[in-house]
Amino acid sequence: MTTELMTQLGYVLAAGLFIFGLKMLGSPATARRGNMISSIGMLVAIVSALLDQGIVDFTYIAVGMVVGGAIGAIAARAVAMTAMPEMVALFNGFGGAASLLVGWAALSPDSGTFTLVTIVLSILIGGMTLTGSLVAYGKLSETIGSGAITFSGQQIVNSLVVLGIVGGAVMFCMNPTDPNWLYMVIGLALVFGIMAVIPIGGADMPVVISLLNSYSGLAACAAGFAINNNALIVAGSLVGASGIILTQIMCKAMNRSLSNVLFSGFASVSTEETVVEGEIKPISVEDAYYVLEAATNVAIIPGYGMAVAQAQHVVKELTELLENNGCEVNFGIHPVAGRMPGHMNVLLAEADVPYDQLLEMDEINPRMEMVDVAIVIGANDVVNPAAREVESSPIYGMPVINVADARTVFVLKRSMASGFAGIENPLFYKDNTRMLFGDAKESIGGLIREFS
Ligand code: TAP
Repeated sequence: MTTELMTQLGYVLAAGLFIFGLKMLGSPATARRGNMISSIGMLVAIVSALLDQGIVDFTYIAVGMVVGGAIGAIAARAVAMTAMPEMVALFNGFGGAASLLVGWAALSPDSGTFTLVTIVLSILIGGMTLTGSLVAYGKLSETIGSGAITFSGQQIVNSLVVLGIVGGAVMFCMNPTDPNWLYMVIGLALVFGIMAVIPIGGADMPVVISLLNSYSGLAACAAGFAINNNALIVAGSLVGASGIILTQIMCKAMNRSLSNVLFSGFASVSTEETVVEGEIKPISVEDAYYVLEAATNVAIIPGYGMAVAQAQHVVKELTELLENNGCEVNFGIHPVAGRMPGHMNVLLAEADVPYDQLLEMDEINPRMEMVDVAIVIGANDVVNPAAREVESSPIYGMPVINVADARTVFVLKRSMASGFAGIENPLFYKDNTRMLFGDAKESIGGLIREFS
């Protein structure tokens, strides 16, 4: 068998592993294995690519793999679960940077028109993914403030940048030996990434990150065409497609269109005041225990606060105590609860909560009227009834978990502070709501002590 054939067979195997791995990521039960299978696919792809390239210097590759692998391993271990979206943003950005560099390196005096177009695309998409992701990182980590940045004349500046990119790209394809046109496209692509993300508010960053993830795939796909590498084309297409599907799912969960997220500029942390009626009724741990002790059906709705408090293990412990007391316990999982897709599933899986206890929003909502106590643990926006009841609310129309339909609602949070969307929550003032103030882990710890 020739090395060329072995390489291509390796690529087919890698593509198969990517596809199976991605499919397995669709369920929490198989997600870890799916991740592992996809990683093995990437290893097969890298080894196959190296077989094909007789001329590469293995020293640089070995050093690169060791240094990159070490940085990746240390960063993955050190990152807090709550900072995972920022880390994903950086990964996307570096993916874009890699495609930019691959595209640039693919340029040679005898590049044909098709190759030149793919080089421009990988540089353009890769460049804007790099700077767009860095801005998204800055907004999520609040190093540059999470609000939307808009200024007068922004549309004009954006239009000029786009015109410059198109003009520069055409001139580069016509004069590939003049590097200045390429430098112009690179520079403007980097500027465009910044301009595209600054007007988007922090609350929409997860959608933007998912979209940038898709772009990083498209950039890799274009780079794959530029260097004629099938594995890169397949992997890039898969990332591009899955990123856009995830973006759509998230937009649907927030009842927004993608163009609304990208161009409205309004979804920055809102200052809109929702007028709420009623009064706050705090409850003590002891009183909450008496209600729970008598309950036969409990729904737990976790949110970002459960991640902050790292309360998933005590939540599992409380679930077992309730079940031993003859109570049915289910979890209601909102698709955008927390700060990244699947955030709650990951935390609860870590605490060994069985998957069949996790109900999606559409499954839990019709059951809510049968629930004696809905325990909201560090969730706010995803249980905000203003999304259904207050037409002027910025989140009006977003599907939420209807906890107020339960007989009693306990809300576990530290204060009356708002959630990520920065808006009031009328749930806290409803007749059947009781506020159990305090850190979620401590409050649940208190309930566990009462039970035992
Ligand atoms: P949020 O609306 O952000 O509310 C979280 C609540 O947790 C806060 O009100 C906070 O109140 C409370 N909290 C924080 N630390 C706590 C602790 N140690 N103990 C108890 N409570 C604590 O969360 P959510 O309901 O999960 O909604 C998610 C929001 O983030 C949505 O607006 C969504 O669009 C957005 N978003 C989602 C994603 C994805 S993909 N999941 C990514 C980014 C943003 P106190 O400060 O009073 O305790």
